[in-house]
Amino acid sequence: MSGQQSRGTVQRTLMIIKPDAVARGLIGEILHRVELDGFQISAMKMLKMTEAQAKGFYRMHRGKPFYNQLVKFMTSDRSVLCVLERENAITSLRQLVGSTDPDQAAFGTIRHDYATATRFNCVHASDSPESARREVHFFFRDSAIVRITRRIKRIYSMPFARR
Ligand code: CMP
Repeated sequence: MSGQQSRGTVQRTLMIIKPDAVARGLIGEILHRVELDGFQISAMKMLKMTEAQAKGFYRMHRGKPFYNQLVKFMTSDRSVLCVLERENAITSLRQLVGSTDPDQAAFGTIRHDYATATRFNCVHASDSPESARREVHFFFRDSAIVRITRRIKRIYSMPFARR
């Protein structure tokens, strides 16, 4: 079943499993879905964001009505930060995660299934190659990201993983 990964640009993206999902015991479920969708985890850590980190990470939203509450929420508890790799990782992860507002998220996406509100939407996923580069390096030094040398064909092509 294993083999070379299908052709396409291999990209890195940042996923954050946010405090609501961590507190609700959804780390394993979210990582399971991500892995079944063919992503490799090349770096991962848990932290409770400081105010400076949350403000810096979400600086493009400064001044928006939801900004202060967003910072408060992101500093309220632990998050899990993951650097994920796959061909077309940025678009693929956004599709797996679903729309920011869970009421708009497609059936079967992580936010459709688990998010309770736009504010409490379980995960963050980088929205462009520029954002992905900035966001990965906001939290990870290059030396903390493992270079993946062995690429396996999409895990969900294995019979036991079909759903
Ligand atoms: P995320 O993908 O992490 O990017 C920015 C976050 O701001 C977003 O998910 C939501 O958690 C939050 N957000 C965006 N728009 C709104 C909104 N209208 N009301 C409340 N929170 C929002």
